[in-house]
Amino acid sequence: MLLAQNLPKAELHIHIEGSLEPELIFALAQRNGVKLPYADVEALRRAYAFTDLQSFLDIYYAGASVLLHEADFYDMAWAYFERAQADKVVHAELFFDPQTHTARGVPMAVVIAGLSRACADAKTRLGISSALILCFLRHLSEEDAFATLDAALPYREHFIGVGLDSSEMGHPPSKFAQVFARCRELGLRTVAHAGEEGPPDYIWQALSVLKVERIDHGVRCLEDPALVEHLAQTRIPLTVCPLSNLKLCVVDDLVHHPMKRLLQAGLCATVNSDDPAYFGGYMNQNFVATVQALDLSEADVITLACNSFEASFLSEDARAAFLITLDEAVAEHAG
Ligand code: HPA
Ligand code: ZN
Repeated sequence: MLLAQNLPKAELHIHIEGSLEPELIFALAQRNGVKLPYADVEALRRAYAFTDLQSFLDIYYAGASVLLHEADFYDMAWAYFERAQADKVVHAELFFDPQTHTARGVPMAVVIAGLSRACADAKTRLGISSALILCFLRHLSEEDAFATLDAALPYREHFIGVGLDSSEMGHPPSKFAQVFARCRELGLRTVAHAGEEGPPDYIWQALSVLKVERIDHGVRCLEDPALVEHLAQTRIPLTVCPLSNLKLCVVDDLVHHPMKRLLQAGLCATVNSDDPAYFGGYMNQNFVATVQALDLSEADVITLACNSFEASFLSEDARAAFLITLDEAVAEHAG
């Protein structure tokens, strides 16, 4: 086994709706009597030929249409946790997109109940710690984001923070300045997708206007040396998703992926799967493909695993405990 596959790690950028495998989409469609615009699993899989973020999002939102009941959200998240365990993911911070569901009449309570029950079972049955991060869809209005926040606040103890996802171009972080300010007042942790397809200025906005603690993707920071310098100095983490970047044509080939340059610049970059059912792999497949394409060293791999805990929203005690298990796994691999 490669070192990367063996190390304990945290996953910080996984859209739980993006973990819905075609087989589960069809099983849930049948269970719920939902008609899909694809004949079967193979036809759905054939549609996974993306040219950019939007071409993916159209199919991703269609896939999520089979989620109606508490058990559906539970089954989806449980399937993810089982795969995460196989990849030695010991802590996961899961994004969920409530607006995708509430817009179809699914109550916020149902979404959060199913996901949080799976998180609780992941801890007791698999030993995986986890947390939920509620994402606002940036193609919708800030007013809609405020309404979503209000609908979620009765379940405040079930999520640790908020994020910003969906179509990036034309929807700059500044569009959500007020709602993020409110979330910070409420003590929520904050992250935002920026610099996946959007320009470095969107990363600056996420930092200076939304005051986020972490940037999701952020790979386009390399176009702005002052931004790279800022990210290195503040150690604001980037949750990078190599196979996603490949599938959504952010990079034309993994050998050109910026991960190595991000590490060389001293950034707190991490490896994540984004939407693993759609992009061809979970955590370890992302690690292995990136290590091979970029010829990353064992020291790079250890740095990436270490960064995943540094970048997490774990308590200092929990982080320290995971870093000890990481050291032990490194020593065992060497010995
Ligand atoms: N980018 C933006 N929005 C998303 C993504 C992504 O990679 N995955 C799911 N929603
Ligand atoms: Zn994402």
